[in-house]
Amino acid sequence: MPISLPSQSKMLAPNFIFGVATASFQIEGATDADHRLTSIWDTFCATPGKVKGGDNGEQACDHYHRWEEDIALIKDLGVDAYRLSIAWPRVMNEQGEANQAGLDFYQRLLTRLKAEGLTVFVTLYHWDLPQYLEDKGGWLNRETAYQFKHYADIVSNALGEWVDSWATFNEPFCAAILGYELGIHAPGLSKPEYGRQAAHHILLAHGLALPVIRHNAPNAQVGIVLNMNRSYAASEKAEDQFACLMRDILDNQFFIEPLMKGQYPQLLNKVAPQYLPNILPGDMAIISQPIDFLGMNYYTCNHNAYDANHLFKDVKNAQPVEYTDIGWEIAPHAFTELLVNLNKQYRLPPLYITENGMACADHNIDGDINDEQRVRYLHSHLNAVHHAIEAGVDIRGYFAWSLMDNFEWAEGYSKRFGLIYVDYQTQQRTMKRSGHAYRALMDSRAG
Ligand code: FCB
Repeated sequence: MPISLPSQSKMLAPNFIFGVATASFQIEGATDADHRLTSIWDTFCATPGKVKGGDNGEQACDHYHRWEEDIALIKDLGVDAYRLSIAWPRVMNEQGEANQAGLDFYQRLLTRLKAEGLTVFVTLYHWDLPQYLEDKGGWLNRETAYQFKHYADIVSNALGEWVDSWATFNEPFCAAILGYELGIHAPGLSKPEYGRQAAHHILLAHGLALPVIRHNAPNAQVGIVLNMNRSYAASEKAEDQFACLMRDILDNQFFIEPLMKGQYPQLLNKVAPQYLPNILPGDMAIISQPIDFLGMNYYTCNHNAYDANHLFKDVKNAQPVEYTDIGWEIAPHAFTELLVNLNKQYRLPPLYITENGMACADHNIDGDINDEQRVRYLHSHLNAVHHAIEAGVDIRGYFAWSLMDNFEWAEGYSKRFGLIYVDYQTQQRTMKRSGHAYRALMDSRAG
């Protein structure tokens, strides 16, 4: 089965960008190279019981050494763009000075990407906070936002020449809530009031960095990447409807509303003030400065029933539906609805789908990785994006997650999201059927 779009789709026009995405800690390995400092994910991986199989990022995909081969693979996929992230612990030391050896790695990488004609999307923070900053409170410490601004200054100054698009953060929800409220991601803290305060400092850091990046890289676009799942109520009952509303507010609106409207969802004042962070005068204006684009990462939807202690609880879809290897419901219609609803609620800047993809239990059988479920997923989700565009949402690009199998955070290497299969013993890369199908879609545009 091919991945296809209607022949008149705007996504097949030359100005629509197709790409693949990765993140530093998930692929680079070489955690001791060139004076890299320890990150919170190195520490988390070294804490027994936190990451499946005791996996860590020491080798990962060894991209730090194999980047030339990996750029060749990006070219093999025939895409227009590559989204990557910079590892903060590689490029800045504890004194706040640039680490030139770390910057040199990215300079080599970006120079080659541009020489290959690729559009380059860089994310400054995809979760690998230097551990020394966590030791001072991490995202619970307001000072970390100012440290981020300084880091953004160093990086956009040194690498601005090669970057087309900057995102300050990837998924503040995951960094703050999974990391500081639910404890399932680094740094592994779990108090409700922590998560929301960490989120506020991350959004503040975004706002503080914006003018700095604009000054250093005036020709690039600057934005932020959010992740959202479409929320449904488990039933028609009023209490389940309320649970669904709160899920949407706490997971989705809590992150987009401050950016777009300069306020946290007002309903929280009434029904759940414990989820409101401490805000200093002026913070919301800093956070809500205009951005050039909004990145959206979409994977799945959720179903919510009322829970007296936590406002909502996750339940399974009562209908028979298909799930991915990580247990996420496959719901392309929810993707369209989410985008269309956001477009009604907010005056959105242009959107890019900065991540979308699925985990399959892939096996390499004599060089053939038959991930037909992923081919179907990409087909249905690309068409979901098409439908959203038809309904009036301004979407300019789509990045598949991920270029290749990699370190899937708390799941370690057990979950494979790549279009390219990685054998972690030999570091051999093999294109899966989904990679071939994505390539065929890219080729179909030219003709
Ligand atoms: C997103 C992350 C990305 C990847 C996918 C599966 O939340 O941004 O790094 O792990 O999930």
